[in-house]
Amino acid sequence: MLTPLRLTAVLLALVAQGSSESTKCTVTEFSQVENVVKNCKDIVVSNLVVPGGETLELYLNSGTTLTFEGITVFDHKEWSGPLIRVRGNNITIQGAPGSLLNGQGELYWDHMGDKGPKKPQFMKIEAFDGSVFKDIKIINCPHHCIYIGKSDQLTITGWIIDNSYGDHDNFTGHNTDGFDVSAATNLVIEKSTVINQDDCIALRHGANILVRNMFCSGGHGISLSTGFNYTLFEENTLYNVTVEDSVIVRSDNGIHVKTHADSFKGEIKNVTYSNIFLSGIHNYGINVQQDYVNGSATGIPNNNIPIIDLNLINIHGNVLDVYNNSMPVYINCGKEACVNWTWSGVNVSGGREKSKCNNYEPNGYKCLDNTNKSSQSLYVNKLMVKPPTA
Ligand SMILES: *[C@@H]1O[C@H](CO)[C@@H](O)[C@H](O)[C@H]1NC(C)=O
Ligand SMILES: *[C@@H]1O[C@H](CO)[C@@H](O)[C@H](O)[C@H]1NC(C)=O
Ligand SMILES: *[C@@H]1O[C@H](CO)[C@@H](O)[C@H](O)[C@H]1NC(C)=O
Ligand SMILES: *[C@@H]1O[C@H](CO)[C@@H](O)[C@H](O)[C@H]1NC(C)=O
Ligand SMILES: *[C@@H]1O[C@H](CO)[C@@H](O)[C@H](O)[C@H]1NC(C)=O
Ligand SMILES: *[C@@H]1O[C@H](CO)[C@@H](O)[C@H](O)[C@H]1NC(C)=O
Ligand SMILES: *[C@@H]1O[C@H](CO)[C@@H](O)[C@H](O)[C@H]1NC(C)=O
Ligand SMILES: *[C@@H]1O[C@H](CO)[C@@H](O)[C@H](O)[C@H]1NC(C)=O
Ligand SMILES: *[C@@H]1O[C@H](CO)[C@@H](O)[C@H](O)[C@H]1NC(C)=O
Ligand SMILES: *[C@@H]1O[C@H](CO)[C@@H](O)[C@H](O)[C@H]1NC(C)=O
Repeated sequence: MLTPLRLTAVLLALVAQGSSESTKCTVTEFSQVENVVKNCKDIVVSNLVVPGGETLELYLNSGTTLTFEGITVFDHKEWSGPLIRVRGNNITIQGAPGSLLNGQGELYWDHMGDKGPKKPQFMKIEAFDGSVFKDIKIINCPHHCIYIGKSDQLTITGWIIDNSYGDHDNFTGHNTDGFDVSAATNLVIEKSTVINQDDCIALRHGANILVRNMFCSGGHGISLSTGFNYTLFEENTLYNVTVEDSVIVRSDNGIHVKTHADSFKGEIKNVTYSNIFLSGIHNYGINVQQDYVNGSATGIPNNNIPIIDLNLINIHGNVLDVYNNSMPVYINCGKEACVNWTWSGVNVSGGREKSKCNNYEPNGYKCLDNTNKSSQSLYVNKLMVKPPTA
């Protein structure tokens, strides 16, 4: 048996940095990051303070496990980030119980989001080969939270992204997207909570994506947003997407599918949303529009990115009746650009206006049967948690 003294010596040896690959290595100072990342496969990041204007670069060795422990804080600086960049094959990134990543968004938020002074993106991920990112808690992203770039066989599970502090009236967060997925195949995002002020999830481009067991609050819904490339068809495609068993509350929209009318051609095909519950939606319960230009709707749809096989199954909930032009379902399709949608069990009520289906009505759904229920349940979820600091 080890005496306490002997045990301490063993533990000290285990946390020694830059030693062999099998040794556990702990980062407590920013200056240690590079060496540890290069030399270790079992890494603990413990109560780290990342200086403003620096990226926590985690280009990990294949098979590495990295654990965030305690509170990781990112100091303030006006720049575009990202605050963390992770890349690797077969890596595991996890949060220890009680751990927290704090982006200190409250030092940046100014209602203006993209349009104001620069604010750093929080985390950029490129991961492959069965990588798992789990149990991460993030508060107060200054700007977009998670950007998933080129990735394959990646699972995101058990996350909490809590930007509820940015709902404060006088320093509102804006453009604080939860997960933006830009080029991922075989991706799972599940069992996670996002409280923010923009898309909970925005899937832009990729294939074979499963989103399930999400709780989204305060944002713009679970979205597809395709057409960011002006030259390549392949970059503007989204295939085989399932979004299921999720709840979206007090958000601008519930389900929001948007294609960019000014981009190159592309295609969205084989998307299913099922078992989605909506509550306290401000604008549209379900909103499919092919008229986006520069981040907003123009009302004039294009057919450059057809949406084929958009299936909705068992979608329930309500839209508030406090905002002008709010309605359960709003569809604005380009000429022959919406094809073969089958909707069943879609029952979204409320809003000030009846649903509108411009140029297309899905099989199984009648646009003009809005029941305009006045019974509304506003789901209040303003946590107003004071951000802890290190
Ligand atoms: C992934 O990494 C783990 C060690 O973390 C290793 O046991 C496993 O063999 C690796 N899998 C692949 C496919 O490389
Ligand atoms: C922000 O508004 C709250 C009330 O909504 C007020 O108590 C607080 O003093 C205000 N803070 C600033 C910096 O204006
Ligand atoms: C379109 O995609 C190509 C290939 O990935 C890339 O080089 C180019 O920068 C993209 N263009 C835009 C506007 O994103
Ligand atoms: C979509 O799923 C089908 C059936 O699993 C598969 O054959 C096809 O390759 C997938 N499409 C893409 C682009 O991966
Ligand atoms: C549609 O996508 C789902 C996964 O979301 C897949 O299981 C199914 O095979 C795909 N269907 C076709 C026709 O590609
Ligand atoms: C979109 O933005 C570009 C450059 O920012 C501008 O040239 C163009 O006129 C804008 N288009 C619309 C429809 O607002
Ligand atoms: C809503 O519409 C009414 C009448 O149509 C108008 O008086 C009011 O200003 C509008 N409210 C907003 C916030 O646009
Ligand atoms: C739409 O569905 C019909 C009948 O299932 C099929 O014949 C047709 O090829 C489909 N169109 C597209 C573009 O998938
Ligand atoms: C639609 O939902 C309302 C409650 O929001 C319920 O009263 C009504 O029976 C539902 N209708 C159908 C056809 O399921
Ligand atoms: C919907 O109901 C509200 C009251 O809850 C009413 O003011 C409004 O005129 C109704 N709209 C339609 C289109 O029936």
